[in-house]
Amino acid sequence: MSALDDGAVNVDGVLSSLAAGRIPAMDHGFLYGDSVYEVIRTLDGLPVAWPEHHARMCTSADALYMKLPWPRAVMAARIEETIAATALPDCTVRIVVTRGPGPMSLLPDGCDGPRMVIYVLPLRLPCADQTENGIAICVPSRLRNDQRSLAPAAKTGNYLNNLLALVEARRAGGEDAVMVNTSGAVTEGTTSNVFWVRCGEVRTPSLDCGILSGITRSELLAAMRADGLVVKEGAFPPADLTGADEAFLTGTVRGVTPVVAIDGCAVGDGRPGPVTRRVAGLLVRVLRAARGPWA
Ligand SMILES: Cc1ncc(COP(=O)(O)O)c(C=O)c1O
Repeated sequence: MSALDDGAVNVDGVLSSLAAGRIPAMDHGFLYGDSVYEVIRTLDGLPVAWPEHHARMCTSADALYMKLPWPRAVMAARIEETIAATALPDCTVRIVVTRGPGPMSLLPDGCDGPRMVIYVLPLRLPCADQTENGIAICVPSRLRNDQRSLAPAAKTGNYLNNLLALVEARRAGGEDAVMVNTSGAVTEGTTSNVFWVRCGEVRTPSLDCGILSGITRSELLAAMRADGLVVKEGAFPPADLTGADEAFLTGTVRGVTPVVAIDGCAVGDGRPGPVTRRVAGLLVRVLRAARGPWA
């Protein structure tokens, strides 16, 4: 067994174990959270929705006035090389592009160009207990970042808003948090999108509520509609969610995780419902269809 069997990190082409990877202390990603990232999972050795993740990373970079200087194929080759150094059959790949090292100033002008950091980690999906029995969540007092300040649509290295909401939820006995925006509408989980079932339809916050356009969300929206489910995107108050018959979170890592309690009150009968199970079934098909080569 080599040191990289459990995962590896690749910092600008330099491979090392997860514990040994280093970036300079003057990197603006470290100093200011000035970075963008993506998390991709593999399925049977192939990435799921790699082109979509790459496209979203470019959009996130645009939001930070940053340009990714590498063609997609170059990034893909670097990722493949990092995966090959591990013995992981399936993995989670986290790509972080930081502003790079520069002077101690907020301004990115003097930075030494973007730096690509790739983490290859064992694939850790929600445990069977969570997918079969669901999780409890909270709606914390902490609001989601306003779109006019740090837009949640950009997947940046600044996750303090989500981190603090998660800590608040955990202290209140929840597994995760679903935040409300400054207008009082439901937005998203700390690393997931949220859906619920009410009046016979599936509801989810629209993108203009200030959320990340989750790739799982987009793929599932299309699959649900194709499967005959009525899905409505909009701005909904938290009472619409808390009074739902069913609820679930979606994401690359979360998959489809049923939500069975919100702020200590049961959702529906307190067990994952039929629509949630149907959507979890759709996800299996969606993941297979979205697999493709690193390229
Ligand atoms: C804030 C936030 N919303 C939603 C998601 C789900 O996005 P995806 O389905 O692309 O993983 C994530 C994933 O990390 C996230 O961080």
